[in-house]
Amino acid sequence: MNVDEIRRELQSRLKKSRFAHSIGVADTAVKLAKKFGVDSEKAYIAGLLHDCAREFENDELPAQAEKRGIKIGEVEKNSPLLLHAYIGAKMISEIYGVNDSEISQAIYRHTVGAKNMSALDKIIYFADMIEPNRDYPGVDKLRELAETSNNLDEIILTAMNESIIFVTQKNSLLHPDTIDARNFLILNRKENKK
Ligand SMILES: [Fe+2]
Ligand SMILES: [Fe+2]
Repeated sequence: MNVDEIRRELQSRLKKSRFAHSIGVADTAVKLAKKFGVDSEKAYIAGLLHDCAREFENDELPAQAEKRGIKIGEVEKNSPLLLHAYIGAKMISEIYGVNDSEISQAIYRHTVGAKNMSALDKIIYFADMIEPNRDYPGVDKLRELAETSNNLDEIILTAMNESIIFVTQKNSLLHPDTIDARNFLILNRKENKK
């Protein structure tokens, strides 16, 4: 499918607010991609498709994951919503014919992050948090950071810290990949300073 066809399919299948969110992430991802020298077409498509598996109900997600050979860990078993990222990463080729490993990886990693994230991974993770339809305490501070900082790692570390605080305040499980992602950012930052 081309971009117009992808947009139309999503509009017909996703609920209205989710479609608006997807467009918001795509547009925000393009802005960030231009700022940080990332392929903006990939950023747009990844943003558009990042939540393509988000319409499945919680009780459908494990079966949808298993069907695609996705391993369900302890944390995912407890928070099946996390599976939408992994399922989405596979669905983009199934439904839309998008066979791009960088886009797929960015979608896979958009919720919990991962060790050694690519610039595109970071952009989609962050765009998902700050797109214009998002409204939560602290979002404006993150949006401002996107304008003022030229350091994508600083931006993503700040965003990840916020996200970890949110998860721990809810007493929810923290995904080990999020800890890996954050540790990697900090260790790399220290290495750069040596
Ligand atoms: Fe998502
Ligand atoms: Fe999202």
